[in-house]
Amino acid sequence: MIQKPKGTYDVYGGKSDQILVLRKIISALMDKYNYKYFQTPIFESSELFHRGVGETTDIVSKETYDFKDRGDRNLTLRPEGTAGLVRCLIENKLYVDAKPLKAWYFGSMFRYERPQSGRNREFTQFGVEAFGSNDPMIDAEVISIVVNFFKLLGLKGIKVNINTLGDTESRKAYRQALLDYFKPCLDELCDDCKSRYEKNPLRILDCKVDSKNEILKNAPKIEDYLNDESINHFSKVKEYLDVMGISYVCDSNLVRGLDYYTHTVFEVTSEIESFGSQNVLGAGGRYDNLVETVGGPKVPGVGFAIGIDRLLLALEAEEIDIIEGEPLEIYAFAMSEEEKAYTLSLVNTLRLNGFNVDMDFSNRNIKNNFKHADKLGAKFVIIIGEDEAHNNLVTVKNNETKEEFKVKLENMVEFLDEKLSEE
Ligand code: HAM
Repeated sequence: MIQKPKGTYDVYGGKSDQILVLRKIISALMDKYNYKYFQTPIFESSELFHRGVGETTDIVSKETYDFKDRGDRNLTLRPEGTAGLVRCLIENKLYVDAKPLKAWYFGSMFRYERPQSGRNREFTQFGVEAFGSNDPMIDAEVISIVVNFFKLLGLKGIKVNINTLGDTESRKAYRQALLDYFKPCLDELCDDCKSRYEKNPLRILDCKVDSKNEILKNAPKIEDYLNDESINHFSKVKEYLDVMGISYVCDSNLVRGLDYYTHTVFEVTSEIESFGSQNVLGAGGRYDNLVETVGGPKVPGVGFAIGIDRLLLALEAEEIDIIEGEPLEIYAFAMSEEEKAYTLSLVNTLRLNGFNVDMDFSNRNIKNNFKHADKLGAKFVIIIGEDEAHNNLVTVKNNETKEEFKVKLENMVEFLDEKLSEE
């Protein structure tokens, strides 16, 4: 039997209902913040991710799905959404008149990771990117979207961790301090950290293997290397979060796994005990040099992405049910083959008039049709026999009270409208 590839999953049943409801909530939320929906290709030229996400990141160096197409082009399934949005911004010159340009997206991302609960090889992200503003107020807006979204869903065990990596100058000074600090003790670090030392020493700070190592704990802290502009930007972000009543924890070891960040970085975690190790529900930050790195003008940006798979696990852990569902209003069946066309035509009319209707496609007998209507949760059942079909009539039964009505076909819509509004 052919099975799905490792680290992927099928969406059906309750999970598909949840995803559709989440999309609806997200779309309404994005209207409130005036972010517009964007869709970029699921695969892009490999170079975009090498330049954009960064050669030294695990995502690009170990986890991309790379392939050549039949025209010998090097392509990569997107491991994240930011680089594609940046490419779209540059290619369509969208930076020209929108300041800021506020975009949101929702879709599959691909990373060749070791699958476990909350970590898949194909997974879904909801993300936002705001381009064109240096104002720390927009960093705070972006963080507030994540917090308010989780609040709206009813999640309680949420923690916001923030840090700053400073501007280019501060980051450079900090990088040098880390190089000087780690040089004499390189042998005591893991192999990954040794290669990070060469390429991006900041990444040593979020190494999972060495995280308990005293050397890491005593490493220089970014706050000692920030210039005035960087200090000011970060304190403004914190002030703006404070005025919105958003709680956060400052964590100077938070550096994030992508190379493009400057200034603000943040992660939002679920603190529910049963949640497991993959507890970062969403993360993001500012990236003032990324558009230029990818080949565009100097346009600052800030954004985040939330892992929808992990969000569903968090909802489950907090026993939150988000499905409101649109109940089935009417179930219809024909007593025999002769009345099928008449039944189908009136079902079509009902659907065009806005009712949620299903019908019998399995030639069930009366008893089984009623059983099936119960299973589907239909409020009314329409029964079409010879009399109804020949005399333009419709028999409607209230599936709860068992009251039965025979109405003229021309009055059917009005009648059901009235009955359903009484429900
Ligand atoms: P990221 O931290 O790589 O950031 O991913 C964001 C979120 O996607 C994670 O917090 C997690 O919830 C989810 N996620 C990541 N990998 C997996 C996986 N293998 N399986 C399930 N969920 C996963 C970014 O992707 C940046 N583009 C965020 C950003 C946007 N920064 C600025 N703008």
